[in-house]
Amino acid sequence: MSKILLSGVQPSGRPHIGNYFGAMKQFVDMQNDYKVYAMIVDYHALNSVESKEELTQNILGVAIDYLAIGLDPEKCIIFKQSDVPEHTEACWIFNNLISMPYLMRAHAFKDAEAKNKDLNVAKFDYPVLMAADILLYDTDIVPVGQDQKQHIEITRDIAQKFNSRYGETFKLPEEVIKEDVATVPGIDGQKMSKSYKNTIPLFASDEEIDKAVMSIVTDSSGERPENVYAIHSLLKTPEELHVLYETHKGQYKALKEALAADLKVFIGPMREKREVLAQDIEKVKEILMIGGKKARAKAGEKMKEVREKIGVSLY
Ligand code: AMP
Ligand code: TRP
Repeated sequence: MSKILLSGVQPSGRPHIGNYFGAMKQFVDMQNDYKVYAMIVDYHALNSVESKEELTQNILGVAIDYLAIGLDPEKCIIFKQSDVPEHTEACWIFNNLISMPYLMRAHAFKDAEAKNKDLNVAKFDYPVLMAADILLYDTDIVPVGQDQKQHIEITRDIAQKFNSRYGETFKLPEEVIKEDVATVPGIDGQKMSKSYKNTIPLFASDEEIDKAVMSIVTDSSGERPENVYAIHSLLKTPEELHVLYETHKGQYKALKEALAADLKVFIGPMREKREVLAQDIEKVKEILMIGGKKARAKAGEKMKEVREKIGVSLY
C-alpha cells in the first residue's frame, strides 16, 4: 500500500510563490508515489478571514489553485477540512493531552502574542487542530515550509501522549522540508507571507509581476542584488544565474527585468490553466465534495477507534 502524504493550505488569500515552492509543488511532484491528501484548512483560516463571502471564494480559490498546479483529482484526495467534522472532534480530545504552558511556547503563538493583545482561543489551539488534521489519516509525511516544523513536532508529541495513555493508535508523521526552499523570501527580503504584503502571487498577472519585481528591495552596496537573486534561484540553476549575474554585474534594473521575464514564463501557463478551470465552478465543487466524502470515510474509521479507546463508545 502506498504511503500517505497529507498537507494543507489556508484559504486566507492568494497563494504566493513561497507557498508553491515551499510546499504545494511537493504535493504535485509526489502524487505518483504517495496517496496524497491535499487539504484546504478552512477552519484554520477563520482566524484571519471574517467575511463569509471572502471565505467561500478563498476555499474555491485554493481548490482551483490545487488543480491548476497539476494535482490530479483522480489520484489525489482534494478536500476541505470542514467537510470532515472528525477533525474538530479529535482536536477536543487532544486538548486534554497537552498543557497550556507547552502550547504557549510555540513560536507561532509567541509571534502572534507579540503583535496582538486580543488573541483568540483558536489562535492558541491552532496546532492541536492541525495535529488532528494529520493524525486521523495515518499520515507518513507532511511537506511544509520551515515555519510549520514546530507544528509537526507538536503533532508527534500529541500522538505519543495518546498512544501511551490509550494504546498504540496513531502513526508518528514526519515533516518534509526542502532545504533550498524552506523559507522563500519576499520582495523585502523577509519571509514571503500573505500577511506581510511582500508576496509575488503564484498566479500573478504580467503587470503584477512587473510591479512586484520592480519593488524588490535592493541594497546598493553589494555587487549582486541579493533579494532579486534569491527569488531568481527558484527558477534557474546556479550555473545559469552565474552567467547572467556576471554579465550584468551592478545592473540592477536589467537583472530585475530578467527575473520578471523568467517569472512570466513560469507563471503564464499555470495562470492560463487556472483561468479555464475557474470557469467551471460546479466541477470544482464536485471534486471537493467527492474528496470530502473519501477523506471522511478514512478519518471516520480512525475516530471510531479513538472513541472506543477513550471509553465513550457504549453501543
Ligand atoms: P499557508 O498559506 O500559511 O497555509 O501556508 C501553506 C504552506 O506554504 C505551508 O506549508 C507553509 O509552511 C508554506 N509556506 C508559507 N510561506 C512560505 C515561505 N515564505 N517559504 C516557504 N514555504 C512557505
Ligand atoms: N498550519 C499550516 C499553515 O499555516 C496549515 C495546515 C493546517 C496544515 N493543517 C495542516 C499543513 C496539516 C499541513 C498539515 O501553513
